[in-house]
Amino acid sequence: MTTRHFLTLMDLEKDELHTIIQRAIALKNSPMLHTDSLQHKTLGMIFEKSSTRTRVAFEVAMTQLGGNSVFLASSDTQLGRGEPLEDTARVLSRMVDFVTIRTFEHSKLERFAEYSSVPVINALSDDYHPCQLLADMQTYFEHRGDIKGKSVTWVGDGHNMCQSYMNAAQQFEFQLTIACPEGFDPDPALLEARKDYVRIIRDPHEAVRDADLVTTDVWASMGQEEERQKRLKVFADYQVDTEMMALAKPDALFLHCLPAHRGEEVSAEVMDSPNSVVWDEAENRLHTKKALLEFLCKK
Ligand code: CP
Ligand code: NVA
Repeated sequence: MTTRHFLTLMDLEKDELHTIIQRAIALKNSPMLHTDSLQHKTLGMIFEKSSTRTRVAFEVAMTQLGGNSVFLASSDTQLGRGEPLEDTARVLSRMVDFVTIRTFEHSKLERFAEYSSVPVINALSDDYHPCQLLADMQTYFEHRGDIKGKSVTWVGDGHNMCQSYMNAAQQFEFQLTIACPEGFDPDPALLEARKDYVRIIRDPHEAVRDADLVTTDVWASMGQEEERQKRLKVFADYQVDTEMMALAKPDALFLHCLPAHRGEEVSAEVMDSPNSVVWDEAENRLHTKKALLEFLCKK
């Protein structure tokens, strides 16, 4: 049996992703469904970057479903002292039931997965953040129903979150408009591969017109701290504020993976507006983690 990994949204079939979203909704709505589905299972967690939501969601999900987790800050492990990733993957595979990794280069996740005999889950890389998209999709489904055929606008950097939205557009069949400054585009090969679902419109006001969902992310991601000052200038016209949201549909939702920088990529007013469902989105990190772990456990 081949080991299933979750490095990007493309690792699962469309129907599998929908099943996970529906299971996450069911787990959230019916606490009685909180079973011991992960009893005696252990999740290894290798984190090379900071995290609040992802780490807590994974750890609480494992605990609430009867399993447990081992948090491994890479600096504290032999990985941090140069032990090859391939060796770590083979060793951990013999002890834990799945591994989640938050790292920089996406290729590290791919290399780890190649040598892992247990499922590997991307907890964020420089290129993708698929777990976040499960929560975003659950949030949209809960508030507005199926996202198929809807119009979604991404405002900001064409980085990991944007690229995950591009994959989501194909998997959940919505139309994605990306408003990013020139020089901050997503990967051109990915853009070409998703061209039936994704387009770029440079002017963010034009891009959000009639959108059903508007979403953004920080202008300088983890690992880009040195570019922060430059990015503040380049992205200055890309703040999602009330005036911009007014161009979207009146019931358009606002999502942000968090942490948010109010006054930069989003105004405080939009963060706290009735259309903003960012706290539900954050909570849904937990429910989707449970559904994903259960799914991978059964494979
Ligand atoms: N959205 C998200 O992944 O948050 P953390 O960095 O806190 O995990
Ligand atoms: N784009 C951000 C997402 C944080 C959850 C980063 O990579 O830092």
